[in-house]
Amino acid sequence: MHFATAPSVVCLITAIRLVSAVDSPLITPLAWDEASEKAKSFVSQLTMSEKIGLVTGSYGSGPILPCVGTLAAVERLNYTGLCMSDGPNGVNRADSEFRMKGVHVLLGPSTGPMGRHPRGGRGWEGFGPDPYLAGVAMNESVTGIEATGVQTSSKHYIGNEQETQRNPSTKDDGTVIEAVSANIDDRTLHELYLWPFANAVRAGTASVMCAYSRLNQTYSCASSEILDTILKDELAFLGYVVSDFGATHSTVDFAEGGLDMEMPGNVTAAGFPCYFGDKLLEAVQANKVSEERLEDMASRVMTPYFRLHQDKDFPMIDPATGPVLFVTQLGHVQVPSMAGMFTEVPAIDVRADHARGIRELGAAGTVLLKNVNGTLPLTNQTSFALFGNGLPDPTIGSTFVPTGGEDAPEGYEIGTFDIGGGSGSVRHTDLVSPLEAIRTKVKALGGRVQLLFDNNEIAAGRFTTIYPTPQVCLLFLKAWATEGADRPDLNLQWNATMAVESTARLCPNTIVVTHGPGVVLMPWADNENVTAILAAHYPGEEIGNSITDVLWGTVEPSGRLPYSIPKDEADAGPPILVVPENTTDPGAWTEDFVEGQMIDYRYFDANSGKEPLYEFGYGLSYTEFDMAPGLNVQLTGGSLNQHVNKSMGIAPGGMVDLWTNVAVVTVNVTNTGDRAGAAVPQLYVSLPQDTTPPGTPVKVLRGFNKLHLRKGETKQATFELLRRDLSYWDVQEKEWVIPRGQITLFSGFSSKDIRANTTISV
Ligand code: NOJ
Repeated sequence: MHFATAPSVVCLITAIRLVSAVDSPLITPLAWDEASEKAKSFVSQLTMSEKIGLVTGSYGSGPILPCVGTLAAVERLNYTGLCMSDGPNGVNRADSEFRMKGVHVLLGPSTGPMGRHPRGGRGWEGFGPDPYLAGVAMNESVTGIEATGVQTSSKHYIGNEQETQRNPSTKDDGTVIEAVSANIDDRTLHELYLWPFANAVRAGTASVMCAYSRLNQTYSCASSEILDTILKDELAFLGYVVSDFGATHSTVDFAEGGLDMEMPGNVTAAGFPCYFGDKLLEAVQANKVSEERLEDMASRVMTPYFRLHQDKDFPMIDPATGPVLFVTQLGHVQVPSMAGMFTEVPAIDVRADHARGIRELGAAGTVLLKNVNGTLPLTNQTSFALFGNGLPDPTIGSTFVPTGGEDAPEGYEIGTFDIGGGSGSVRHTDLVSPLEAIRTKVKALGGRVQLLFDNNEIAAGRFTTIYPTPQVCLLFLKAWATEGADRPDLNLQWNATMAVESTARLCPNTIVVTHGPGVVLMPWADNENVTAILAAHYPGEEIGNSITDVLWGTVEPSGRLPYSIPKDEADAGPPILVVPENTTDPGAWTEDFVEGQMIDYRYFDANSGKEPLYEFGYGLSYTEFDMAPGLNVQLTGGSLNQHVNKSMGIAPGGMVDLWTNVAVVTVNVTNTGDRAGAAVPQLYVSLPQDTTPPGTPVKVLRGFNKLHLRKGETKQATFELLRRDLSYWDVQEKEWVIPRGQITLFSGFSSKDIRANTTISV
């Protein structure tokens, strides 16, 4: 399996199973209780130090690092240990897939950060700021990945919305300045940040990775409130909590706070202190951590292993994994003391035809934002300018491996960005740049291309090498985002705005393509010579082919924005918290999320004077669609009970009744244009303001469909509403409640383009 497509491009339409299991047989997981019994019986045969080994990462005795996270084997019981690899977008620090490479745990999917700040360095690894959309995508990702027998680790739990000070720092005098704390109220936590994690737990995620940062002043990996009370009790999570790498800061508080496994653990090479291992053993012997708790930790670690049948026929770790990891982290270092520490061995090639799927997903996640007078799709034009530093292969080499975001927060200047940086990045085995793909296409059409990559030259508007004036100017611009640093601003980089303006002055048919992590500002969007705009996100290694497919209409653009693009940064959510460097206050990095749920389209809805440039859910097609005004709603149970039926019990994901289908909504959609295409009707729910506490959003997304329609064809969109979809979190009762009064349902083609509505009375 392989999905080098960054999940942020998995827009409204592409909530599909991300992982095709073409190479691996699909497995049927064991029931959780059966797997848990097996795990307990396995753990009962272990010595104390073997149990410690199950909850503490270690690389064994060899010098080569086999995987990013590794658990040692227990050979006498035929347990091979665990190999964990990043990340959400493809196998990191390796050169291809997961299961076939012998990787037991995929360190993803990610829904934290969600994108409270579009400037956050890691939003692109996840699914955007809408919890419902992110929840659907988490469900699909976990289900698809685990169907191949690979464990998922849903991350980063929770409120890890910025990279700046995600970890504590130490001042020269030894004062520890704690990591940033997200102070989130209970209702916002449940309805926004926790929501997609609940989907992941329900889908069967094997583990949850707790975040580096603090939540409500306590380190996420030591917070029994969020780990025990919410995750393990309320959501009935039966797998294990693994720390982000180096996020454990002491022994007893973290083990008793609900952390089940420390990563990377006992690995001096990784440069983190280890607080489990021997220290945990001592704590258990001194009765500071109970033996029962250690058994619980170890059993939780083993439960998904049995649930996903990893005890049977799991492929051996690719022997190239260690060497690739070594080179990725250190390069081909010529340090004498390291000479001979690894031998390069051929990697097992399991790529098959996965490039085809990456190409499809890249095109599917591309959003057409502007298209004046049918500029696109391109037809028989023959004279092209290909402009911009986002066009060619990267001049720094095809795999960009800075050791951390701080080293290269701006990325590199010349070359396409198909993916962001940090642990979510991947090592390319092939990269088809836009230049390569478009040039090949234009040559086949018998046309000509004129090139200019240097944005500064373009911005200066000299164009001395360009003659004749091209029929079409394609300008490729980009923005970088990486783990370890937040974006300095929301602009496309390297003089991009001037580059658009100069190109548009030269060329009345300027088409701008952006590659980037999500929200980028477009102050030039209304320039009349900018005839089309495509937001192509980070689409993965087939970046060139994916965009060529959309430009020439081989693929109909049906991506829709999973976020709003504001007109300027002031409307892009609360700023990243930055505390002056000279602070001596250990708790200075503390931020109250006072906006509650009002981020992205909920913010625009709540502030009627504010308009986005392009709103959440928006995107054009090469055809046109219409929606019938009548929205039909059928209550499946006849009427709605306000309260959850507790007698239905609890299962992974929480109270079973929360996941009961309570209503089915239908509406007709017609293709009124002159070619086939895919419509993306959306359903929004508006809970009554007068019977819910303050802080209820004007409306929230609660359904979407993708309908492929031939010219003139009409199809019905169907949205199924679950009890949770119509509920709010009652902080006094600590339960989900459907409010009394009138609930309004809206359907349309974006969060602002509403075409039909109806009401339900409760
Ligand atoms: C730190 C990152 O935050 C996390 O997402 C990743 O899985 C680990 N490093 C391991 O690389």
